[in-house]
Amino acid sequence: MMDKYVIRGGNPLNGEIVISGAKNAAVAIVAATILCDEPCVLENVPEISDISICLKILREMGAKINVLSKNVISFDTTAIKHPTVPYELARSMRASSYFLGTLLGRFHEAYVPMPGGCDLGDRPIDQHLKAFRCLGAEDDMHAGTVHVKCDNLYGGNIYFDFITVGATINAIFAAVKAKGLTVIENAAKEPHIVDLANFLNSMGADIRGAGTDVIKVRGVDYLKGITYAIIPDQIEAGTYMVMAAATRGDVMIKNVIPKHLESISAKLRKIGAKVEEFDESVRVYVEPNTKFVKTSVRTMPHPGFPTDMQPQLSTLLTLAEGTSIVTDDIFENRFRYVAELRRMGADILVDGKVAIIQGVGHLAGAPVKATDLRAGAAMVIAGLAADGETIIDDIHHIERGYENIDAKVRALGGDMVRRYYPDSNVQAITG
Ligand code: EPU
Repeated sequence: MMDKYVIRGGNPLNGEIVISGAKNAAVAIVAATILCDEPCVLENVPEISDISICLKILREMGAKINVLSKNVISFDTTAIKHPTVPYELARSMRASSYFLGTLLGRFHEAYVPMPGGCDLGDRPIDQHLKAFRCLGAEDDMHAGTVHVKCDNLYGGNIYFDFITVGATINAIFAAVKAKGLTVIENAAKEPHIVDLANFLNSMGADIRGAGTDVIKVRGVDYLKGITYAIIPDQIEAGTYMVMAAATRGDVMIKNVIPKHLESISAKLRKIGAKVEEFDESVRVYVEPNTKFVKTSVRTMPHPGFPTDMQPQLSTLLTLAEGTSIVTDDIFENRFRYVAELRRMGADILVDGKVAIIQGVGHLAGAPVKATDLRAGAAMVIAGLAADGETIIDDIHHIERGYENIDAKVRALGGDMVRRYYPDSNVQAITG
């Protein structure tokens, strides 16, 4: 990737912004079209590279996909004949694991490359496989590809050893057309799980309890075609909320579900920003002379503070007075952005799952890297709040999950452009 984001910090962000469809709901729902027995249409699909990869995977497998208008896509997966996901495409994305559940549900067999995605440490799929086994499937791994197979899927009881979003979704996929009742206990409660269940139920599935820790799925034979709008992205909204606060601006963030943002709003208020909630929007602003104050945060599964907002909030905490303690034990590797923030003057010490952030009041622009998707969002926030110029490399990570982030920031008065750097390949080889 030779493009980088170039940001000149210092402008407070002001105005209105419209949030796109939720990435983590969309990747699950797009994979779920494999279970649909008729063509269906999805609205509010975000234009991000994780979705382009999902579409490419489905097309290579034989699905007919048409972009009807911006963010509206039709899917006809009925022509897919083989339950095999193309290796190179799927390897780059965590959500490719969802094809295990959907292909198993439809074909009783799936070949899926071991999923990739953000490098947040070891990301095993043991709980996904456990769920499939509970419904009667067997699995093995050969040459980097996971193979699951069964003669028939039968409803069963699944108890997850810990809360996992991906395995909860895959368990639902396998159970939707299984014979009988599946009970999923210790299920994840994230908003996108509820959205996925709503999508499947609108097609005729029988899923109850999504959004609680016990989900019951009674198998059905047939799912009909529908038109469905994906929920707004909680994390994209949260990212712009932090951006508004960090630049001491005033932004109305539209097309959101304020309830999904409560844990984020609560932390922002504690730090000193003002958050006003409306039916489908939130306004975040900072009153003149406000001094941001330290706060401590621990990431938790929903409805706790999301791990996907940790790098962004930590960036804001570098601008606060005092020492904040941030604990993130959902993934091993969620503090890799700290080395980049230090280049901008942040004072952060990381010990395992804990970051100790000594507020420094302000940041200074520097060349930095997006080490993963949310880390990249944190760099954008840091760059917009910093004095001087910040150049962000490896922006493909950011574009996996944020639709038109540079244009959205510019519309709010931020100075951010995507610029082509012809020399960056040479740097990559020699550097
Ligand atoms: N885990 C296992 N075994 C499993 C499944 C998970 O050990 O079989 C572990 C993971 O390694 C992790 C923890 O359990 O330590 C939680 O993982 P989870 O399964 O909940 O995460 P995920 O499904 O892989 C989704 C999001 C992530 C988000 C997490 C947590 C998608 C496509 N990804 O990942 O989003 O951080 O839930 O909320 O939905 C992002 O959008 O930037 C992103 C990384």
